Amino acid sequence: MGGFSIFVTRALPEEGLEPLRTARDVARLDVSPLDRPLGRDELLRELASRDGAIVLLMDRIDDELLGHLPRLRAIGCFSVGTDNVDLEAARRRGVSVANAPDVLTDATADMAFALLLACARRVVEGDSIVRTGKFEGWSPLYHLGLDVSGKTLGVLGAGRIGQALLRRARGFGMRLLYTSREAKPEIDCVGAERVSKETLLRESDFVSVHLALAKETRHAIDEAALSLMKPTAVLVNTARGPIVDERALVRALRERRIFGAGLDVFEDEPALAPGLAELPNVVLAPHVGSATRGTRAGMARLAATGLLALLRGETPPNWVPGSARPVH
Ligand code: GLV
Repeated sequence: MGGFSIFVTRALPEEGLEPLRTARDVARLDVSPLDRPLGRDELLRELASRDGAIVLLMDRIDDELLGHLPRLRAIGCFSVGTDNVDLEAARRRGVSVANAPDVLTDATADMAFALLLACARRVVEGDSIVRTGKFEGWSPLYHLGLDVSGKTLGVLGAGRIGQALLRRARGFGMRLLYTSREAKPEIDCVGAERVSKETLLRESDFVSVHLALAKETRHAIDEAALSLMKPTAVLVNTARGPIVDERALVRALRERRIFGAGLDVFEDEPALAPGLAELPNVVLAPHVGSATRGTRAGMARLAATGLLALLRGETPPNWVPGSARPVH
């Protein structure tokens, strides 16, 4: 009997999988019963006889793995980032890829702004002071943080999420800078100015990273970049950990060469660079930029509908260019 066989590498919000459960042309749908990421051998075993898969950002889908999966034709990524998939190998091997953009834009921009405010106003440090009984009462010079209003926000990589952050920051009366390969008239009109990376790093009070991870963006924030930032500046990263050289960041924070950092992603997740967790001037979140119920359900639905369209030989709006064009 015909029909697609699909594997989902980890439990996702059930309502998101409904398009796959109800599709007549899906003959088999299995979801990993394990409450953890699959190992390489497990991925190989589970995907060996599948036409399609929904994968997570930590499932490394490289050329070698794809070489063992001759039947696989389509992948739905439960993420907007596709850096875990070797797109060139996918294209060469006839595997089409869809991702989950847009639905997570607002949630992730909210998280970036939450980290920005938490660092500026030292919210987490303050919480621990109160919890541990060290709060001795209001005092004029106590626990001072940074102003946000009227300060400069620099967004590195003004894609969808970066732009959503700029729109939020406008409401806070901030000056807005961004970097981008192309001019973005749609954000220039909210009063944002496109500048070089160096100018952005030098002039921003808050620098927020919204680049996609690729060879060219790995360690885009390195020792040299950090040394351009103001001693009163805050770095926020809700994109991908390896864009920031985490060890260089620990040194800069320890030596107070920048004021603080708010990080939702880490270079070698879930491990942290030595010393990072001991620093008082960081706010650390467990990669939860898109982690709201509604957003995660929307991501699952988008990955599922994209995957189904690809398997049917259609090109959904969330097809990832660079992967194989779907063939009818
Ligand atoms: C999450 O990190 C994503 O890329 O969707």
